[in-house]
Amino acid sequence: MADLEHGFPKMAKAPRFIMGLIFLASLALNLIDLERHLHRTDVSTSKGVCLEAEAEHLNHMAAPAEHHIRERRISGSALSSDSVVNLDHGDPTMFESFWRTVGERSTIVIPGWKTMSYFSDVRSVCWFLETEFANEVRRLHRLVGNAKVDDGRSIVVGTGSTQLFQAALYALSPLDGPEPVNVVSAVPYYSSYPAVTDFLKSRLYKWAGDACGFPGDDSPYIELVTSPNNPDGFTRKAIVNGTCGKTVHDLAYYWPQYTAITEEADHDIMLFTVSKSTGHAGMRIGWALVKDEEVAKRMTKFIELNTIGVSKDSQLRAARILKAISDGHEWPVTDGTERFFEYGRRMMTDRWERLREVVRSTGRFSLPEFTPASCKFAGETTETHPAFAWLKCEMEGVEDCESYLKSHKILTRSGKHFGVDIKHVRVSMLDKDEIFDLFLERLANL
Ligand SMILES: Cc1ncc(COP(=O)(O)O)c(C=O)c1O
Repeated sequence: MADLEHGFPKMAKAPRFIMGLIFLASLALNLIDLERHLHRTDVSTSKGVCLEAEAEHLNHMAAPAEHHIRERRISGSALSSDSVVNLDHGDPTMFESFWRTVGERSTIVIPGWKTMSYFSDVRSVCWFLETEFANEVRRLHRLVGNAKVDDGRSIVVGTGSTQLFQAALYALSPLDGPEPVNVVSAVPYYSSYPAVTDFLKSRLYKWAGDACGFPGDDSPYIELVTSPNNPDGFTRKAIVNGTCGKTVHDLAYYWPQYTAITEEADHDIMLFTVSKSTGHAGMRIGWALVKDEEVAKRMTKFIELNTIGVSKDSQLRAARILKAISDGHEWPVTDGTERFFEYGRRMMTDRWERLREVVRSTGRFSLPEFTPASCKFAGETTETHPAFAWLKCEMEGVEDCESYLKSHKILTRSGKHFGVDIKHVRVSMLDKDEIFDLFLERLANL
């Protein structure tokens, strides 16, 4: 005891001193961490993050995007007239203003004990597919009439349609082929396809470029068909006519806010995503409608090995969002809220009309022209209003449209990333009002 009594006060001074040092060190570390966290928060909420899985854009974009977000922070929420306008990515933040009006009908609360198991429905081909989500997917397709869902085809859920695209490549490639299967898509193709296809240097498949001119002989190939197309907005069909080809239809934009719904799509593999249909890119949920059960099983296997399923929380949230859309269209409106696709179409119409007006008045650019078509969902003839403007610089002496616009602090994506010329750029039409307005103002004054 005596030793202890004597020892204790002696020991107490040393720990107090050491504790003080530790406290100071920990304070310093926390401050550094906080600073890092704040910085990370900025970057992750900025357009600096590679939103379309296009690694090559990350370095290119980081600096201007951070600059852009810093400007916004300095001036509160308002942009200054010389802010960088970043329309490189297809980040669908435009739809936020709609979801702010919906409130409870689009809100879910998940108690701590829920969604704990890996499994959802072990009898389903896709064992991690939440039934509630699958039901709402089918319901929405029946409402819109944009894809067949009632003929026994399987639903495979993915962490965004980017994961499903890879799952489809895996599922469609022969495992014992002498060489990797060629993956093609007609130019201008979605700029992520080459990078995602070749990212892991698979022995199963490889990017082979433009589908136009690809020989339709008897060797296997996979054709990616994006309709409406990213970047140019046109409706597309498969073009390679080989005997051993498979197709993957990426229908991310086949929704009434962008285009007329002319028929119930009925392809072997159809990919959809909440990123572009509802605007919830951050939820990371996509789904595939797959005719052949064996293919659906192989896609499921890919996701099992890749991420052991797909977040149930996200699936439940997605189910709630899809339900809110379907309820809004199927039930009488009692609270004055607009219906989602009507809102989307109104917004896109307004933006495209204003953009066309500016392009006409400057005479320096051109845009694709689309033929109106009869939309089965809207019950009338509607115009095409793509999620991206495929803008062409028509000025003499301007070859590189992306660099030209960048020199005026407008960030876009060059045609070269889509397999075509640099006179074209892709411009996102889905950003927030204030950014889009500034873009038009800047374009009008070039
Ligand atoms: C044609 C197309 N497919 C897929 C995606 C990616 O979708 P997700 O966010 O579901 O991975 C995009 C995103 O821009 C796209 O344009």
